[in-house]
Amino acid sequence: MKGKISFTLNGSHISMEADLSTRLIDFLRDELKLVGTKEGCSQGECGACTVIIDGRTANSCLVLLGQVQGAAVTTIEGLGDEQNLHPIQEAFIEEGAVQCGYCIPGMVLSAKALLDKNNKPGKEDIRRAISGNLCRCTGYKKIEKAIIRASE
Ligand code: FES
Repeated sequence: MKGKISFTLNGSHISMEADLSTRLIDFLRDELKLVGTKEGCSQGECGACTVIIDGRTANSCLVLLGQVQGAAVTTIEGLGDEQNLHPIQEAFIEEGAVQCGYCIPGMVLSAKALLDKNNKPGKEDIRRAISGNLCRCTGYKKIEKAIIRASE
C-alpha cells in the first residue's frame, strides 16, 4: 500500500512516498542503505534487527513502515561512527564484548534504551533489557560488563 511516510530517523526528518506495508527492516536496509540493522530470524526471536522507536526497543522485522508514522526511530547509525564511537560502543570494545558482531547493533540499542531510562542499572535490569537479543559467541558476561562500564 503506497502512501506518504513521515517520521524522524536518527534525528533527521524523513518524508517520502513509500510502500507502507514494507517491513521497517527492509525500508532501512534496502531503501535507505542503513545496513547496521541486521536480520537474523525474521520472526521476532533473535533481536538482531532491534531499533528504538519512541524510546522503546522494537524488532524491526515485525514492524511495518506505516506503523512508525510520526515516530522517532533510532538505528545503530544514529549512535556513532568509526571516528566517533558512542560511549556504549566504546565500552563493548573495551570489555571485549564483540566477537562475530552480528548481534551487536541490536545489543547496543537495547543497552541504550535501558541506560536512557536507568543510568545505574543492576545486573537483573541489564539481563532483562537484553533478554530479547541472542548472542551465539560471547556468553553474555562481557556484554553485561560492557553495559555496566557504559553506565559508569
Ligand atoms: Fe527480527 Fe530476529 S530478525 S527478531
